[in-house]
Amino acid sequence: MLRAIYPGSFDPVTFGHLDMIRRSSSLVDELIVGVLNNNAKSPLFSVEERVKILKEVTENIPKVKVVPFEGLLVEFARKMDARMIIRGLRAITDFEYELQMAQTNHKMEPQLETAFLTTNLAYSYLSSTIVKEVAAFGGNISQFVPEIVEKRIQEKINKRRV
Ligand code: PNS
Repeated sequence: MLRAIYPGSFDPVTFGHLDMIRRSSSLVDELIVGVLNNNAKSPLFSVEERVKILKEVTENIPKVKVVPFEGLLVEFARKMDARMIIRGLRAITDFEYELQMAQTNHKMEPQLETAFLTTNLAYSYLSSTIVKEVAAFGGNISQFVPEIVEKRIQEKINKRRV
């Protein structure tokens, strides 16, 4: 039984993440989408909101479980009894940071492997940060994120304007 973790901030989840979740889930027996609770990053969405949205947008993808986590990813993987971490690589710019994380995690937990999937070309430019920036300036983000995310971001922006 191969249980893997696809970890991230998902603030917010994009079509790029969803593509990764779909493809990863087809490779493993169970895929845990690990949602990082890191208040130091002052996210747009609370971890509870991010988990709720992720559960909604992945409900039709088999073998997927959405679970929040705090602290070290290797500890979370141990707790979940997962043997593999899956990360997406968009471009060469992602590589250095991802390699550093994978090697640090491997040092701390040699049984835990990190596997990389190259992101779908259609989404290789996409990031949660860019989506938030476009939305903050009133741009249309419907081609980047699921409808539910679009709605929730709009609600946040409207609240901030009040
Ligand atoms: O979506 P992101 O922000 O690129 O995801 C980064 C994430 C959550 C995978 C990374 O920050 C992480 O694993 N954080 C948990 C803390 C940790 O284990 N840090 C040491 C890794 S070297």
